[in-house]
Amino acid sequence: MALKLHLTLALLLAISSSFSSRVRAIGVNWGTTASHPLPPPKVVELLKSNNITKVKLLDADPLVLQSLSRSNIYVTIGIPNSVLRSLNSSKKAAQSWVHDNLTRYFSDSGGGVRIEYVAVGDEPFLRSYGEQFYPFVVGAATNIQAALIGANLANKVKVVIPCSYDTFQSESGLPSKGHFRPDVNKTMIQLLTFLSKHRSPFFVNLSPFLSYHQNKNISLDFAIFRETAHPRNDSHRTYKNSFDLNYDTLVTALSAAGFPRMGIIVGQIGWPTDGAANATSSIAERFLKGLMDHLHSKSGTPLRPHDLPMETYIFSLLDEDQRSVATGNFERHWGMFTFDGQAKYRFDFGQGSRNLVNAQNVKYLPSKWCVVNNNRDLSNATARALEACSIADCSAMSPGGSCFNISWPGNISYAFNSYYQQHDQRADSCDFGGLGLITTVDPSVQNCRFSVELLTSLSVSLQVSYLIHSIVLLTTTIFLCFPSIVQEFSY
Ligand SMILES: *[C@@H]1O[C@H](CO)[C@@H](O)[C@H](O)[C@H]1NC(C)=O
Ligand SMILES: *[C@@H]1O[C@H](CO)[C@@H](O)[C@H](O)[C@H]1NC(C)=O
Ligand SMILES: *[C@@H]1O[C@H](CO)[C@@H](O)[C@H](O)[C@H]1NC(C)=O
Ligand SMILES: *[C@@H]1O[C@H](CO)[C@@H](O)[C@H](O)[C@H]1NC(C)=O
Ligand SMILES: *[C@@H]1O[C@H](CO)[C@@H](O)[C@H](O)[C@H]1NC(C)=O
Ligand SMILES: *[C@@H]1O[C@H](CO)[C@@H](O)[C@H](O)[C@H]1NC(C)=O
Ligand SMILES: *[C@@H]1O[C@H](CO)[C@@H](O)[C@H](O)[C@H]1NC(C)=O
Ligand SMILES: *[C@@H]1O[C@H](CO)[C@@H](O)[C@H](O)[C@H]1NC(C)=O
Ligand SMILES: *[C@@H]1O[C@H](CO)[C@@H](O)[C@H](O)[C@H]1NC(C)=O
Ligand SMILES: *[C@@H]1O[C@H](CO)[C@@H](O)[C@H](O)[C@H]1NC(C)=O
Repeated sequence: MALKLHLTLALLLAISSSFSSRVRAIGVNWGTTASHPLPPPKVVELLKSNNITKVKLLDADPLVLQSLSRSNIYVTIGIPNSVLRSLNSSKKAAQSWVHDNLTRYFSDSGGGVRIEYVAVGDEPFLRSYGEQFYPFVVGAATNIQAALIGANLANKVKVVIPCSYDTFQSESGLPSKGHFRPDVNKTMIQLLTFLSKHRSPFFVNLSPFLSYHQNKNISLDFAIFRETAHPRNDSHRTYKNSFDLNYDTLVTALSAAGFPRMGIIVGQIGWPTDGAANATSSIAERFLKGLMDHLHSKSGTPLRPHDLPMETYIFSLLDEDQRSVATGNFERHWGMFTFDGQAKYRFDFGQGSRNLVNAQNVKYLPSKWCVVNNNRDLSNATARALEACSIADCSAMSPGGSCFNISWPGNISYAFNSYYQQHDQRADSCDFGGLGLITTVDPSVQNCRFSVELLTSLSVSLQVSYLIHSIVLLTTTIFLCFPSIVQEFSY
């Protein structure tokens, strides 16, 4: 009797833990499009100290993969869109790619990198890319799949294709009218057939922020899971948030294409904290809390009740100051952590602690900033600052950004400093025709942070090469100025 009870209990525990581990499949995206990326070993420490168990990469950087080795973190590696053409046309290229960037690091027993997915392309159907990648996506995925089979890894690593939020749509804004974009329709049927054949899930990037930002019809409350948001009715179904609306629009599109049961993984979802109106830490915190509560509630969506996305990857781990701002200046501010690994807000991964843990022992360049010299004629300063901004990161100065309301010439200093930091604080990068001035007094004002960049191996090597360059210059100068030394040497 007692034994039976114990067995039942054990079974119940096993069932409930397998359910909760499904809910807990929350990962993060780790991007490295930064001028001074946090060193990969530091990032892995950050992931571990926050108990993050899954990470999605956009490429297969050797340093990043080496750092993830023996970490027990499940990894998605990525193949950039630019490589799709060659992977489509050559099985051999696909084999090399898998050999060089996957097999070399792979391990499912803790000795190497636990690679779970290989993402072929990054949002290849994004509307703004046009049709340039369509002809290669399915061919490239097929060749990578064949290479995985060849490497005996096909039952351990799945091939997926991250699709952008605008791959599907609904003119009425209601999920029941959802469908794939007509231009991508044909390729999508081939892609879904491929995924279904190999039991791979559909990776989708959702963006309630962009839906809100671009669509006057979506309220902020609806986007951030506010209970008080005005719901939207789709015949007898009621939608209380933007996430469910987007998700079910995709579910309908998949059904209409003939794949009603296709598993879905949310490959990217997040909220930026700077560079646009309503892109703030407090709104991001509310959004993520709403998302986590929704995922933990296990209620699912109206079209897939009790059926959550299999996994969800938050976008993003860290801010990246070199991301393209084509969509908006907020693009550089998706991080849950700032560029240097400091938490922006409270967040509960649901795995023990109720708060994020910062990166420890981060190494910075010296505490120096570049500002505008107020004692000079500043009539050309604005032009200089705009020039600096074309390279540096001035995204925080856009409307709604944290540095939007710093007044002139503070905004000039902000631009100068960003340029100076991105160039590893080299003295000649704070010149600006004599308008720049290096200071050791932090010029930050209120929320507007004038950053000091990270000391990275790259900046060390730059400084070393700068030093070598200087020594070579110095030696050359000595030889040129004092030819007698050369003569003495030749004795
Ligand atoms: C993709 O690869 C296939 C097989 O090699 C080839 O027939 C096809 O022309 C390629 N597509 C494009 C657009 O290059
Ligand atoms: C991956 O493999 C290809 C082909 O061998 C190679 O060209 C590429 O540089 C490798 N590395 C990354 C990070 O993609
Ligand atoms: C906008 O929202 C209203 C209800 O909130 C709905 O009736 C209308 O169809 C929506 N329009 C679009 C273009 O989404
Ligand atoms: C997409 O393709 C499917 C199947 O070929 C078809 O039923 C559907 O009407 C197409 N949709 C559009 C918008 O072209
Ligand atoms: C939406 O549906 C709910 C429940 O079915 C109903 O109470 C509400 O009046 C409907 N709202 C609109 C605007 O039709
Ligand atoms: C969102 O941004 C708009 C425009 O700046 C502002 O009017 C509104 O108050 C903001 N909403 C919240 C909740 O911060
Ligand atoms: C990580 O997990 C451990 C063990 O479950 C727990 O003690 C710790 O507080 C967790 N840390 C965070 C940041 O969640
Ligand atoms: C401003 O720029 C113009 C054009 O390059 C130049 O002729 C002028 O001397 C500059 N003024 C100052 C004060 O540097
Ligand atoms: C800038 O805006 C912030 C937030 O809106 C406000 O707290 C601060 O006082 C403003 N600063 C200036 C100089 O206007
Ligand atoms: C700085 O502010 C001044 C005055 O508001 C403006 O004319 C100028 O374009 C700004 N410069 C930059 C680089 O934002």
